[in-house]
Amino acid sequence: MRALVWHGKEDIRCDTVTDPEIEDPRDAIIKVTSCAICGSDLHLFHNFIPAMLPGDIMGHEMMGEVVEVGSGVNGKLKTGDRVVVPFTIICGECDQCKRGNFSVCERSNRNKHLADKVFGHTTAGLFGYTHLTGGYPGGQAEYMRVPFADTTHIKIPDGIADEQVLFLGDIFPTGWQAAVHCDIEPTDTVAVWGCGPVGQMAIRSAIMLGAKQVIAIDRIPERLSMAEAGGAIPINFETQSVVGELNELTNGKGPEKCIDCIGMEAHVTPAQPDTVLDRAKQMFMLENDRPHVLREMIYVCRPGGIISIPGVYSGFADKVPMGQLMNKGLTIRTGQTHVNRWTEDLLHRIEDGQIDPSFVITHTVTLDQGPEMYKVFRDKQDSCIKVVLKP
Ligand SMILES: NC(=O)c1ccc[n+]([C@@H]2O[C@H](COP(=O)([O-])OP(=O)(O)OC[C@H]3O[C@@H](n4cnc5c(N)ncnc54)[C@H](O)[C@@H]3O)[C@@H](O)[C@H]2O)c1
Ligand SMILES: [Zn+2]
Ligand SMILES: [Zn+2]
Repeated sequence: MRALVWHGKEDIRCDTVTDPEIEDPRDAIIKVTSCAICGSDLHLFHNFIPAMLPGDIMGHEMMGEVVEVGSGVNGKLKTGDRVVVPFTIICGECDQCKRGNFSVCERSNRNKHLADKVFGHTTAGLFGYTHLTGGYPGGQAEYMRVPFADTTHIKIPDGIADEQVLFLGDIFPTGWQAAVHCDIEPTDTVAVWGCGPVGQMAIRSAIMLGAKQVIAIDRIPERLSMAEAGGAIPINFETQSVVGELNELTNGKGPEKCIDCIGMEAHVTPAQPDTVLDRAKQMFMLENDRPHVLREMIYVCRPGGIISIPGVYSGFADKVPMGQLMNKGLTIRTGQTHVNRWTEDLLHRIEDGQIDPSFVITHTVTLDQGPEMYKVFRDKQDSCIKVVLKP
């Protein structure tokens, strides 16, 4: 079959690889009908997250049709079923799965020993996302193997287009969880840093959850326009003072809730000298992450507020202002998304017409065009916001 394969830094190729097979009774094989490139894939593209190996198949946002099931799937899935595959692999039986803490499932990471060492405790197995989270082949491919398939799926009824439901596997519940983590009150201002696909979902989620005002920060005009179309007030961090504007829009009090939809690769600009220093340190491996946005959020957040971090960080970040964080009494909430905790509700909202997540798609291409589209998405060429691939 054809698949997008990681070969090294900024080197992803569309290769012919061996077809996946059932390896465990709880497996299923999916014929992928749609998959997407996520901002998290860019961290791997840039080789900023360790433990990728040449030959690894990329992709963790995908859906398709079940073509084969193992004997242990017990009728929960059958050939012909249409499913979105969540990026988090879940056993459904461990203590964390029972609590709904699916992204820290204790049994789905087959390289648990490695994650135990690095993180102190294992986290869930993830598709196409390094050997630290199991080294499972991803879904930017014609076919994929889904381990623990009886629990690791979201069943999709016929009659809804792929594009409307594809993002249930990642960015939609990610933006939603980020907003839920803010415990939004009707009097709250929610500020969202980053208007990529995750930021767009967080903005719409914060509005659906009843925030008084939502403010969106980025520098890419079309991303700011999309945020504005979704109901947010835009701030361009290249031409405006983020702290100044946020204070002005909140009568000098600061936003109660701040969401970081950027993570470890905050852009470097001369107006933000700390990002330049972070970039140099990241290059020489003196720190893993560029936490400019985290610093800015802690500084501007109203005392007693919440900092919600869906953006991915990988290791150590320097100069996180603990003094401001502690003295202002801020709460930090974060995590890889507990996808299946939210998807039943979110699928209903799509079916009800409350939201159609396909608004974010700007490019639909074939798998062969995937390697080129990683660059187009990364560089925001051709007004690119979200890429869907059709294997
Ligand atoms: N927690 C999870 O489960 C989860 C799931 C999906 C994605 N993510 C993470 O969410 C983050 C965003 O993903 P995405 O797909 O939207 O990626 P993206 O790269 O398309 O979007 C990031 C956006 O941030 C903007 N940006 C950069 N520096 C900024 C700054 N200083 N201030 C304001 N905006 C700035 C960029 O212009 C860009 O539009 C990534 O870190 C990704 O890994 C996390
Ligand atoms: Zn993702
Ligand atoms: Zn589990």
